Amino acid sequence: MNILVLGSGGREHALCWKLAQSAAIQEQGGTLFAAPGNPGMAECATLVTLDASDHAAVVAFCKERAIGLVVIGPEAPLVDGLGDTLSAANIPVFGPGKEAAQLEGSKAFTKEMCDRANIPTAGYVRCTTLEQAKQALSTFAPPFVLKADGLAAGKGVVIAESSDHAKEALEDMFGGKFGEAGAEVVIEEFMHGEEASFFALTDGETVVPFGTAQDHKRVGDGDTGPNTGGMGAYSPARVLDETLVAETLERIVFPTVRQMRKHGHPYKGVLYAGLMLTNEGVKLVEYNARFGDPECQVLMMRLKGDLAEYMLACAKGSLADMPEPEFADDTAMTVVMAAKGYPGTPEKGGAIHLGHSEASGAKVFHAGTTMDGEQLVASGGRVLNVTAMGRDTKAARDATYAAVSAVEFPSGFYRTDIGHREIGRELEQG
Ligand code: AMP
Ligand code: GLY
Repeated sequence: MNILVLGSGGREHALCWKLAQSAAIQEQGGTLFAAPGNPGMAECATLVTLDASDHAAVVAFCKERAIGLVVIGPEAPLVDGLGDTLSAANIPVFGPGKEAAQLEGSKAFTKEMCDRANIPTAGYVRCTTLEQAKQALSTFAPPFVLKADGLAAGKGVVIAESSDHAKEALEDMFGGKFGEAGAEVVIEEFMHGEEASFFALTDGETVVPFGTAQDHKRVGDGDTGPNTGGMGAYSPARVLDETLVAETLERIVFPTVRQMRKHGHPYKGVLYAGLMLTNEGVKLVEYNARFGDPECQVLMMRLKGDLAEYMLACAKGSLADMPEPEFADDTAMTVVMAAKGYPGTPEKGGAIHLGHSEASGAKVFHAGTTMDGEQLVASGGRVLNVTAMGRDTKAARDATYAAVSAVEFPSGFYRTDIGHREIGRELEQG
């Protein structure tokens, strides 16, 4: 079976790395394609030039190359309905259709779904005008959580400490700072607690847990500075213990999948639940309709089974026939090496030498890299995801940072404390 992965970041490199190990590629002579991919992905996939927003071109490529599975990595093509176009052309696709992808594409859609299914989440109001939003602020206590309704590349959420700051942020949102995404704004109650990510695979009916992880969203050590797409992650997130996973499935994930089916838009693919572990139990922060980046990198390091088979089962509605996915007991960690300036304007073109970074079993996934002649250089904000395993989080950290030290990337930087919460708990427990 030939497989096509769409995307070009660290998440898609990790997916390609794992898919390249599947029986479809290793034993059955299938070819793995990636579009547009990156220099790291070129080591395990054939790169092709394809624009995911040109649906006709994607379908034509799939027909010409007899693609048996398309994996859509990022959210934009999902929300744009590429999944529906592929399904209509009888091409199996891993990822939800346009309506189901609204779970990520619209904060208001998700909040209303939570209301209908009685899913625990922060209280909220939807606002369509600046005046209405400013008035609604008085019904919340600081810190104020303000969210542009639509996709805003992870930048559409503002947590404002004062009502003056909140009003300024609302003016920006309604003033078009996030484009169309800010035409509607959701104001939410602030939830206190620790955040963790939970992943589930579903074919619209059957749901199977697919691992846990914890991301580090702030740019600086000690969780300081502006929000980013994620500066590092580890898996499993043991803070989401068996009881909390069961609660997450029962109260959040199962009701969501049921609701989507009931409304005629079954959700297929990976459902990524961003959770807050509060004193009142697990609450949903947000849904994403795709794997997390960089959470995917650590999940793929730990996954034991054949990823292509699970993805195909999600696409074809046969997940109930598959064994439960299995993950290594060990912890995987990934550290994001970013270009100086990120999450503002990153320095482009900085030279990268990977040296012996992969010598001890670590894997360096490429995110924002490109070739400048023979030289690997930085081309984006998040540049490399250095990933390694260990028997616990501390051992995974030691292995990962040893690999990070072997990378020469003078115009880059990274956080030095990925996993600090969990390592603190491990040290306490002795
Ligand atoms: P989101 O894009 O909805 O995940 O929001 C980005 C980040 O903002 C989350 O990862 C949380 O750290 C924070 N956040 C979002 N909503 C809330 C909330 N209601 N209470 C506290 N923190 C929140
Ligand atoms: N790492 C956060 C995300 O992928 O949304």
